[in-house]
Amino acid sequence: MGNDQVLIFGAAGHLGLPLARWIRYKSPETKLRLVSRNADQRHRLQADFPDAEVVAADYLDPGSMAAALEGISAAFIVTPDFLDEQKAMEILCAEAKSKKSLKQIVRILGNLPYTTLSEIPEKWRSVGGTLTQHHVARAVLDDSGLPVTYLNMPAYLMDDLVRWSGPIREQSLLVMPYDRRHSWVDPTDIGEAAANIIMSRDDRHIGQYYDAECGYEVFRFGDVANILSDVFRRHINYDDSPETWRSLNGPRYKALYGDHAEEYFLAFYHFEQTHEFSVRNSNVLETLLAREPTSLRSWIKCNANAVLPQ
Ligand SMILES: NC(=O)c1ccc[n+]([C@@H]2O[C@H](COP(=O)([O-])OP(=O)(O)OC[C@H]3O[C@@H](n4cnc5c(N)ncnc54)[C@H](OP(=O)(O)O)[C@@H]3O)[C@@H](O)[C@H]2O)c1
Repeated sequence: MGNDQVLIFGAAGHLGLPLARWIRYKSPETKLRLVSRNADQRHRLQADFPDAEVVAADYLDPGSMAAALEGISAAFIVTPDFLDEQKAMEILCAEAKSKKSLKQIVRILGNLPYTTLSEIPEKWRSVGGTLTQHHVARAVLDDSGLPVTYLNMPAYLMDDLVRWSGPIREQSLLVMPYDRRHSWVDPTDIGEAAANIIMSRDDRHIGQYYDAECGYEVFRFGDVANILSDVFRRHINYDDSPETWRSLNGPRYKALYGDHAEEYFLAFYHFEQTHEFSVRNSNVLETLLAREPTSLRSWIKCNANAVLPQ
């Protein structure tokens, strides 16, 4: 990839950073343009990647997007929950179309297999967020005719267990309403898979929609509490009641995403429960990584201190 330059959004994050590190390791001649909107993160990235260009860009700011996309050969796109995807992807597409050097866009999605926008309860469709945003983004990207590969995560990211670890630490409790079957995936594996797609320069990836989960068991959350218990050798109880979740997490979600967030996430979890039979495992991620992906039990063992400091 001698003259190639890869643009990585969210480069300081748990998907973008492993992606950038994997490319630097596997293809040190590939130039990197790393994006973060946060000045401290940009300083850290520049120290970690002295040879990379480190820039600020915002999906909702056309000028910064035009500059970020200039001269690049591939772009990695990851978006936060509740981004206005219609606007963001329209800006990305408008700016990307004039960039002749751009050969590939790898876009992260988060949809359960076989679910469609029309299945999302009417009440929540206009709110945006994780129930709908990836369908909205995909429609804009598909219409653009740009060379896109979708890396869909129909799975929970394993480090969500760190985000949810407050009750695990304080009450030996895993709290998740609406127990349901779900897959899991290591964010580092997703970053490496995206990097492999980009470094392959194989245009047969373009137009593909990869469902990437770790490929081992599908677990109920009660099973996850049992794995946590086994790894920590300490009983972690599982509580599936929406009321416990409301009291422990409601205020935090409202502060992060607004007043509707508590009801929204409960609706999201309920939607996942009603669609739990769409969840399955595949060898797609194994194929992209050319190795076995990380299992949930291994990830918990390797990251035990982050979930429950010993
Ligand atoms: N968490 C899960 O279990 C899970 C499961 C399946 C799918 N997903 C989906 O995966 C995606 C990523 O989730 P996540 O938990 O990794 O999210 P996240 O931590 O919020 O990461 C989003 C990244 O996007 C960048 N970003 C945010 N707003 C931006 C903007 N306006 N312009 C440019 N860059 C921006 C951020 O980087 P800077 O702030 O440094 O700029 C950040 O690194 C989401 O779309 C989510 O729905 C998540």
